[in-house]
Amino acid sequence: MYHGDAHTPDDDACRGADRYPDADLYSGDIASVLVTEEQIRCRIAELAQQVAADFPAEQDKGELLLVGVLKGAVMFMTDFARALPIPVQLEFMAVSSYGSATSSSGVVRILKGLDRDITDRNVLVVEDIIDSGLTLSWLLRNLATRHPATLEVCTLLRKPDAIQIDVPVRYIGFDIPREFVVGYGLDYGERYRDLPYIGTLAPEVYAD
Ligand code: IMP
Ligand code: MG
Repeated sequence: MYHGDAHTPDDDACRGADRYPDADLYSGDIASVLVTEEQIRCRIAELAQQVAADFPAEQDKGELLLVGVLKGAVMFMTDFARALPIPVQLEFMAVSSYGSATSSSGVVRILKGLDRDITDRNVLVVEDIIDSGLTLSWLLRNLATRHPATLEVCTLLRKPDAIQIDVPVRYIGFDIPREFVVGYGLDYGERYRDLPYIGTLAPEVYAD
């Protein structure tokens, strides 16, 4: 633990650090909280145990490689990596699917590819949400061409339509209703990613 004196703690800021962030951070834009911060934390701990059991630390494929999809999966990825009781390595990809603000078309463009070779590695794609599943199915086809040893998916959220897709998703945090959600990495027009929970938006927000 850090005991140096280079940093003088700001008592007020420290006291506020474990306080639940202001529920009204976005002044009334959030209609309801669908998954709380506590529920997210508990589920991540469970998923982490499951993944660690499936990918024991000592094996010949090297450390498990988490591939996070920017920007939505960033909160999940960092919390998940810290919850995993096995060493992992982190990679990020950025993709953009053409479509409206609230639905995707399945036409995907890579904005940032992988920095490393994934041949013969155990790869776990970490996703924020699977809606139609079009983005993910495209991404998996793309990654499979690079011959990883194993290729699995862990998503925090899944919506009902995704059940129709033929991509195998091994780890699922929560199945949620067919509703647009924000928070914990998920955005609407790049806003609300910083909320610590998953919530739904008030209808007025879409009307603006
Ligand atoms: P899909 O291709 O329809 O599965 O959409 C996947 C991507 O669309 C996700 O990675 C998100 O970036 C975005 N997305 C889908 N549903 C939501 C939502 O409810 N809130 C925020 N983003 C979403
Ligand atoms: Mg998005």
